[in-house]
Parts: sequence; C-alpha cells; structure tokens
Amino acid sequence: MDILKTKNMTKSFGGVVANKDLSLTIEEGKITAFIGPNGSGKTTFINVVTGVHPITSGEIFFQDKEISKYESNQISRLGIARTFQKIRLFDNLSVIENVLVARKSFYKSGPISVVFNTKKFREEERQNKEKALELLDLVGLKDKAYESPKGMAYGLRRCLEIARALALEPKLLFLDEPAAGMTRDEFKVIMDLMLVLRERGITTVLVEHTMDFIKAVADWVYVLNFGEIIAKGPFDEIEKDPVVLKAYLGEE
Ligand SMILES: Nc1ncnc2c1ncn2[C@@H]1O[C@H](COP(=O)(O)OP(=O)(O)OP(=O)(O)O)[C@@H](O)[C@H]1O
Ligand SMILES: [Mg+2]
Repeated sequence: MDILKTKNMTKSFGGVVANKDLSLTIEEGKITAFIGPNGSGKTTFINVVTGVHPITSGEIFFQDKEISKYESNQISRLGIARTFQKIRLFDNLSVIENVLVARKSFYKSGPISVVFNTKKFREEERQNKEKALELLDLVGLKDKAYESPKGMAYGLRRCLEIARALALEPKLLFLDEPAAGMTRDEFKVIMDLMLVLRERGITTVLVEHTMDFIKAVADWVYVLNFGEIIAKGPFDEIEKDPVVLKAYLGEE
C-alpha cells in the first residue's frame, strides 16, 4: 500500500527547478530515504509535500486523496508531521513543555473548562503529560524533561524536535537530516527510534547524508540529482550504482 504518491511534481524557484517531474510512491509502514548531493532538491521535496512551499505543477496524493493545494496546517491535520533541517524549538520553555505545546491540537476541552479547571480538563492534562513523557523516553530525553533545551547538545535538541513531531501522532513522518551533528551515541538513539516507529506502523521519510544510517534503517532509497530521481532501490543496490557514484563524485 502506498501512503503517499506524487505525479510529475515540479517545484521551481525563479529559474531554479528544485524538483523536476517527480513521480514516486512512499510505501506505508516503511522507511524511505532520500539521498543526493547538496542542492539536489531533498528538502524542497519535503517542503512541497508538507505545504511549506506551493507546488509549481503536478499532483500529490496522501492515502489516495489529492493534497497538492493543501496548506501546511491542513496537511498536519491529516497526520503528516515533519522536522526541519534547521532546528526549531522554544528555548524559553522546558523540554516537556515543548512537546506539550506541539500536542495542543489534541486538547479537546473548551476555554470554559480550562478557566474553571474542570475535572475533564485536569484529566486531559494528565494524559497529555503522560504521553509527552513517553515520547521523551522514546527519544532518550525523559531525564531532561524539566530542563531548558537552550544550550543542550545539538543532538539532544534534534531528538526533542523529533519528539515534538511525534506528539502530533502522525501516520507519516518526514525527518530532514535527523542525524546531522550528532555524536555516535545520539545517532544510535535515533537509529533505534526509527525501528521502533516502523514497528508501530508509522511511515518515515528520511533525508540524510550519513550513509551508515541509511544502510541500517532504510527499506527503500530514492537518489536525487539536480531535482530529478536518478536511481531508486534498496541501499545495497544503490551504493554500487555507477550513476549514483558519478553524481556524488561529480566526475565525468
Ligand atoms: N526558498 C527557496 N528559494 C529559492 N531557491 C531555493 C529555495 N529553497 C531551495 N532552493 C533551491 O533549490 C535547490 C534545491 O535545494 P534543497 O534545499 O531542496 O536541496 P537539498 O537537497 O535539501 O540540499 P542539502 O543537502 O544541502 O540540504 C537549490 O538550488 C536551492 O538553492
Ligand atoms: Mg536539505
């Protein structure tokens, strides 16, 4: 089953065609990786699918529903979450508050019950907190729940960003370079997390430059170069593909 499908998806920025005629599918419950040299259009692909940038032409389908014209808030309500290549956190809030804020769309109580601190509201708050702690545990941050993310190691901040994306309980999760700047230990946490998410049936799309990471977790790989797919398949095949090697080495 395909959870996401694009048909001739094209994105131009002025004269630059960042994604050109991408027709591809993302299989449900799998980990799909996008690799390719700098500027090959990986982040743009995520930005267009998640409604950050409007599509120039072509179509995008999520669970067979056309979402090409959806805005980012509509997309996230469908169950599509993402992290950003440049980390976005609230440094003035604690680690757990960062997750709770991301979960705020799950609060069902109206303003009246919040003001009067009703039993229903308190119960909901308790459940949200429990869920947030569970997510922090999953990304290895439970013991730092009440600390500030400000000044925390880069890798840990990235883990928190992932917990925030997971707080939306997505069906489809996009991670833009989750292992960038991580230490070996932090890297291992993210790698294990990927596998746990797959066990839970969450579909993950991963953009990453760390080949060991891709090799360890990806079920399927798309290789982009100048906005186009130049190869696709399991990593073992991709890594030997002369077309891919040439794109990376930039040789004739
Ligand atoms: N908002 C934008 N405005 C103008 N050009 C953009 C914008 N975003 C991306 N581009 C251009 O689109 C092309 C693809 O960029 P993109 O960020 O998608 O690449 P990438 O594969 O994610 O690269 P990296 O590995 O360096 O993150 C580049 O030429 C880039 O300069
Ligand atoms: Mg990028």
